Amino acid sequence: MDSLLTDIDHVAIAVHDLDAAIDWYARSLGATVVHREDVDRDGVREALIQVGDSFIQLLTPTREDSPVAAFLERRGEGLHHVGYRVRDCALALSSLRARGDRVIDEVPRPGSRGTTIAFVHPRASFGTLIELVQESAGPPDAE
Ligand code: CO
Repeated sequence: MDSLLTDIDHVAIAVHDLDAAIDWYARSLGATVVHREDVDRDGVREALIQVGDSFIQLLTPTREDSPVAAFLERRGEGLHHVGYRVRDCALALSSLRARGDRVIDEVPRPGSRGTTIAFVHPRASFGTLIELVQESAGPPDAE
């Protein structure tokens, strides 16, 4: 089987204070934010820091019923999920589902930056929440 994963898209870190985290990355590591977005559906505000071709995604909840708010309450700050780039999110998701792997999103949905995404349940993936990220919303270009 060829790998469904083409790259690490982002490493997502849940934080209480987004500005404090952004400031720390800038002062301590010289790393600066290239994109900010509120994702209303997920109740999160994100800031992306570019690292090579990938990102660190700092995440903070925008409302109390956000899954990230529940995560911070239960686990505290730290690694929330890893986003892997895939060529075709629908294909990767159906491949996992065909194997009986537990997923959170039954079908792909819009993510930030115009991406198409789907989450795989951490119980399927040894305790780490995985996000499948397809960079465009449309079907991938033929190669
Ligand atoms: Co993500």
